[in-house]
Amino acid sequence: MATERFKNDKRLQVLALFALYYVLLNQLQSANAEIQHGGTCNSTDSGNVCKPPLVCKLEFNVCLCPVTQYYDSRTQKCESENNLKRKNIKCRGETDSVICSLSQDDSILNTYVSVNSSSQVIPFSQGQAEIKHLSPGTYYVATITSKFVIEFYNKIITSTVAVWTKPDKPGNISSVRKTKVQETSLESYWYDITFEASRGNVSYYIFMIKNTKEYTNSFETKKTTISNVLLKPGTTYFFSITAYNGNNTSSDVTEGSFKTNAE
Ligand SMILES: *[C@@H]1O[C@H](CO)[C@@H](O)[C@H](O)[C@H]1NC(C)=O
Ligand SMILES: *[C@@H]1O[C@H](CO)[C@@H](O)[C@H](O)[C@H]1NC(C)=O
Ligand SMILES: *[C@@H]1O[C@H](CO)[C@@H](O)[C@H](O)[C@H]1NC(C)=O
Ligand SMILES: *[C@@H]1O[C@H](CO)[C@@H](O)[C@H](O)[C@H]1NC(C)=O
Ligand SMILES: *[C@@H]1O[C@H](CO)[C@@H](O)[C@H](O)[C@H]1NC(C)=O
Ligand SMILES: *[C@@H]1O[C@H](CO)[C@@H](O)[C@H](O)[C@H]1NC(C)=O
Repeated sequence: MATERFKNDKRLQVLALFALYYVLLNQLQSANAEIQHGGTCNSTDSGNVCKPPLVCKLEFNVCLCPVTQYYDSRTQKCESENNLKRKNIKCRGETDSVICSLSQDDSILNTYVSVNSSSQVIPFSQGQAEIKHLSPGTYYVATITSKFVIEFYNKIITSTVAVWTKPDKPGNISSVRKTKVQETSLESYWYDITFEASRGNVSYYIFMIKNTKEYTNSFETKKTTISNVLLKPGTTYFFSITAYNGNNTSSDVTEGSFKTNAE
């Protein structure tokens, strides 16, 4: 019945045509009205939709990337914030300081470094930042913080790098004492050699000793006294002392010489 009436009623046909036209037009418009990044949007206006995956942030009435994403103006796409994590940070320990570096590209970001609970927060300058006045031979965790504004929000991205400072240079020899005299065919004696400790957490020392002739010897020690070293009296010996930290990084080397007392 209704079909019959429609077929015969020219006015209805024209109306239906218009209706169809409007529906199509609306769809076309809403497709065109997909708002680009940064464009104004309004949630109550159904014709004004942000271009997916952009979402309308109602605080600002602006089409922005979803949470945990940022807008990369180069690719013109929303990218994961994980991409912003600093991957190319290197930190090395000196005796009293830690020096961290970033690639040149990263240094344009607002990036800082601190270690453990130290109050020093050092900004990177030309890709490098140095935290001074640290303890020698110590394990630190450097926290690199990048602060930037993404999508109208302040974002903080952090990375951590573990680093050991070098132990301080060990001190000089403080005593060489003849201990038990023992007759040997080489006319040698037992000596105790004591040196000054490094500042800092030393895992072990390597003490090397030689004379101008063929004699050379090496000791690994946790203490600062090496007992019962077989040396000749009245002879000049050259030594070197190196301290190693818990990650087996060496200090600067202390070198010197001493002469054993004559018989
Ligand atoms: C959003 O749309 C509503 C209804 O059209 C309007 O009253 C309101 O002013 C709009 N807000 C903005 C920020 O455009
Ligand atoms: C720094 O933090 C690390 C990890 O928490 C810890 O193992 C280390 O001992 C700390 N170093 C200092 C000097 O506090
Ligand atoms: C310790 O040394 C190893 C090998 O050299 C290195 O891979 C590691 O990163 C070091 N750890 C720290 C905390 O410096
Ligand atoms: C010194 O380093 C060792 C690892 O070599 C660690 O076990 C110890 O806790 C450190 N001591 C201090 C006082 O930092
Ligand atoms: C520590 O370093 C020294 C010298 O570089 C090396 O001879 C030694 O094998 C290292 N020890 C460990 C445990 O890596
Ligand atoms: C070590 O001490 C001796 C004598 O005390 C001195 O002659 C020598 O210069 C010192 N060496 C260093 C490296 O300080």
